[in-house]
Amino acid sequence: MPDDPLLRSAAPLAAARPAAPLSGTVGVPGDKSISHRALMLGALAVGRTEIRGLLEGEDVLATAAALRLMGAAIDRREDGHWLVDGVGIGGLVEPDDVIDLGNSGTSARLLLGILATHPFTAFVTGDASLRRRPMRRVIDPLSRFGAQFLAREGGRLPLAVTGAASPVPQIYRLPVPSAQVKSAVLLAGLNTPGETSVIEPQATRDHTERMLGHFGAKVTIEVAPEGGRRITVEGYPELTAAPITVPGDPSSAAFPLVAALVVPGSDITITGVGLNPSRTGLLLSLREMGADIVLENERTEGGEPVADLHVRAGPLKGADIPPERAPSMIDEYPVLAVAAACARGRTAMRGLAELRVKESDRLTGIAEGLQRCGVRVAVEGDDLIVEGAGNLPAGGAQIETRLDHRIAMAFLVLGLSANQPVAIDDARPIATSFPDFVPLMARLGARFTEAQ
Ligand code: S3P
Repeated sequence: MPDDPLLRSAAPLAAARPAAPLSGTVGVPGDKSISHRALMLGALAVGRTEIRGLLEGEDVLATAAALRLMGAAIDRREDGHWLVDGVGIGGLVEPDDVIDLGNSGTSARLLLGILATHPFTAFVTGDASLRRRPMRRVIDPLSRFGAQFLAREGGRLPLAVTGAASPVPQIYRLPVPSAQVKSAVLLAGLNTPGETSVIEPQATRDHTERMLGHFGAKVTIEVAPEGGRRITVEGYPELTAAPITVPGDPSSAAFPLVAALVVPGSDITITGVGLNPSRTGLLLSLREMGADIVLENERTEGGEPVADLHVRAGPLKGADIPPERAPSMIDEYPVLAVAAACARGRTAMRGLAELRVKESDRLTGIAEGLQRCGVRVAVEGDDLIVEGAGNLPAGGAQIETRLDHRIAMAFLVLGLSANQPVAIDDARPIATSFPDFVPLMARLGARFTEAQ
């Protein structure tokens, strides 16, 4: 389809083995999950919220634009320094245009939670990737509050939502381990009388709960009698503006981190990386594979644990990554699979059903991409099995990124330790989460070149 505008303006990029080991110290951009939540809770609070270290990726900018469309005043002062003047719980107003959330699933699901208990109608859409992703998982619980949805087949975007005028509080047990669904329900509970609870059988990232507490909401977390955690928020809290410092995103740090592990002789430090325990599955897995990662300067910033990661290259071995670890590293499998491809022995990554509904079907995308690069790989049910030969993968392939930033970055990292360069067909999606990826990697000594 030569006249497809997307293909016409695609930006192919290639990565090859660098002449020297990676070295240096870099800081990664702000955490995407925390950045979305800071803008949303800032918009729902009373007063001015000052945010530092906000991720200025396209996904987060989509959240800011949506909140502006609904009456919040959001201003950028300088890099990462943003001010949000909130409207108070229930104070958002009907947007006079369609809300376009681009590639961002977090924006879509969390904002639908907020919209579900605001009594007006909003129209929500996104890019081709987001329009394929399942929204039924939030439509179902949010409908129980009394919100009405009109969506495409399968509960897909574009959709219209009319928020409940008299919302009914809910107790909702998550059928899938999803922080986005949990957060959507808790955010709907803010403009609802009484208590709204979410029961999560498997722990997922807890940034929403933490930040709600930080803004003064009453949130309780207890062990659910049936197992797992029960998180309860009281309706109509006085959310008070509170300063937020966003830590570096561990899911972005994952790319230079794995690059340093697999480019022989590398020695780098990544500063200020968020180490919330609900996000550290990759560190644990890489250490089990023999990675040399030392935490330095451990501290707490803005209520989140943070450290500098000192990473040195060395041989990796295969490992068995259990399914219960998946929620704590759900976005890291593309780059973990790259580490596995450069390791010696079999790495089995189990219980990855959720990877099929990310920005792309990542289970298929990783397997096909690795195969093209000469790596032995298999998908068995929901498990991904990578057979690392213990020497450099062949490379020499072009990878389809399918509007998926993490597939794009993971395969560029693979190109840094493959025999032949690896190209991706489109680097543009990287800007959704890591706009400075290319210059940051260049500072460490990794050069990417424009490909055909
Ligand atoms: C996110 C939760 C995860 C993750 C996504 C961000 C969040 O999605 O994959 O990148 O900010 O809550 P799910 O909750 O759908 O697993």
